[in-house]
Amino acid sequence: MKHFTITVLKGDGIGPEIVDQATKVLDRAADKFGFTVTYQRALLGGEAIDATGNPLPQETIDACKASDAVLLGAVGGPKWDTLPGDQRPEKGLLGIRSALGLFANLRPAVIFEALRDASPIKQEIIGDSMDLMVVRELTGGIYFGDRGRETNHGVESAYDTERYSLPEIERIARVAFDLAEKRGKKLCSVDKANVLESSRLWRETVARIAKEYPQVEVSNMYVDNCAMQLVRNPGQFDVLLTSNIFGDILSDEASMISGSIGMLASASLGENQFGLYEPIHGSAPDIAGTGKANPLATILSVSMMLKYTLNLPEAAKAIEDAVSKALSQARTPDIRTEGLREVTCEQMGDLVCELL
Ligand code: IPM
Ligand code: MG
Repeated sequence: MKHFTITVLKGDGIGPEIVDQATKVLDRAADKFGFTVTYQRALLGGEAIDATGNPLPQETIDACKASDAVLLGAVGGPKWDTLPGDQRPEKGLLGIRSALGLFANLRPAVIFEALRDASPIKQEIIGDSMDLMVVRELTGGIYFGDRGRETNHGVESAYDTERYSLPEIERIARVAFDLAEKRGKKLCSVDKANVLESSRLWRETVARIAKEYPQVEVSNMYVDNCAMQLVRNPGQFDVLLTSNIFGDILSDEASMISGSIGMLASASLGENQFGLYEPIHGSAPDIAGTGKANPLATILSVSMMLKYTLNLPEAAKAIEDAVSKALSQARTPDIRTEGLREVTCEQMGDLVCELL
């Protein structure tokens, strides 16, 4: 029987409650598909600051490296908002992505048929379907570039630097092209090459890598135009390849088209199959502990883990199907709709287990 060790980073806010539902679903999938899972807990973000004074303790990095995959809830909250930038919970999240070499962030945005009513975008604009994959570079760019503050002649200023090396662009481009080849064979690279030098290098490099993938149709789009096209005609996109910061912004936008940011999962991958899986939403401290959190993005992150790291595509598909069915029976408050039972985070987790 296959056995996996998963490091669980529950994090802050709603993190613990959504992760508990996701591991429950993974346990149910393990029973059903004949594999076993051991979980090891480690600390990240605010909970790690409170316990150790450090948002990313070395033990957490070691635990992640010693496991098959990592499941993460969310980090951050008002309690830690006044800490200096390099001591904030978010620093732990950026640090773990970097320490594990997870340069490729896959963020699928799909329309669940049962959720169409929850999308703020008109049905005729969404069209028959929306199934796009944001491939976001995750360990470079302005998130990790030179930054600082200085005072010159009594005037204070602050700066952050967007820098990409050629190998960084090449490797993320290859991930996106490989995916496009297996999907709709369309790739749109998003940049700001009319203004930024780093985007010009990005665009040239993507054009060169594209020659290795003659079957994939490539286009380039400026990020401002892309933000507009996403709400004008989301169906035109298959794979969106972009930088760390543009991917952060565009993936939130794409998620909302699908109804709720509480629905979207993500995978962060490195050179091998190892990965860290997390919902794209934050820690929502305002609803933590109220039972109102939507666990589906984290449950779908487990499905991505089964697909991309654990090589169990059938179990992954079964979870997706169970989530679709659950959506036609019950809703958490963020996607509440007339006529369907409103459930808590835990009840939603139970329902997905039951339908699996
Ligand atoms: C995300 C989040 C993080 C990011 C924050 C919490 C640092 O917004 O995963 O999209 O910007 O990458
Ligand atoms: Mg974000």
